[in-house]
Amino acid sequence: MTGPSLAGVLGRKAGTADGFARYSDALKQSGLVWDKRNLDAWLENPAALVPGNAMTFPGIADARTRADLVAYIEAVSTGRVKVPDRGLPNLKESDAASRVTSIRFCGDTYRLTTADRKAHVFWEFNLRFKTDGSAAGPAAGQPVLIGTGMQGDRAAVVFARPEEISAFIQRRCP
Ligand code: HEM
Repeated sequence: MTGPSLAGVLGRKAGTADGFARYSDALKQSGLVWDKRNLDAWLENPAALVPGNAMTFPGIADARTRADLVAYIEAVSTGRVKVPDRGLPNLKESDAASRVTSIRFCGDTYRLTTADRKAHVFWEFNLRFKTDGSAAGPAAGQPVLIGTGMQGDRAAVVFARPEEISAFIQRRCP
């Protein structure tokens, strides 16, 4: 999701995938159309083909590897090969152990409770607050705790919208 979908990329004008909002001006104004030759040059060294583009990718030096990759993209484009599912979890179906019911902040510490009544404590620097407004994101007002597997000292709380974040966090000491 950092980059655009490559579905149907062969034959498409660069910087025009439906619904992708993070294209650089450099790529949009490149005038490129993605044929196999351009794809090969892009994958060898994106920064050389389109200076100032936003794809943080060093490139693939080996010509054979690039040829395999371009062949795969072509096979997917023509429907010969099916792309595996993205496999991201649907956060609306989170279980009680992940549904966050309260977040308190005191000193340098966040204390969370989840719907299974368990408490989770994090040093402020180790807890990230994220949003996912997509169909797979959490329900409004029902943030979800992810990323620890309920062990480890780092985690993220995913909200449906940025406006929910501060409103949800209570500044209160135990
Ligand atoms: C072998 C792996 C990769 C392939 C085959 C690939 C392929 C492509 C292609 C063909 C485009 C142009 C799409 C278009 O014009 O609609 C693109 C753009 C982009 N890709 Fe990748 N990519 C790869 C890896 C990555 C990685 C690792 C990242 C970031 C973590 C990334 C992020 C992006 C971004 C942000 C853009 C938009 C660039 C811009 O607007 O300047 N890609 N990629």
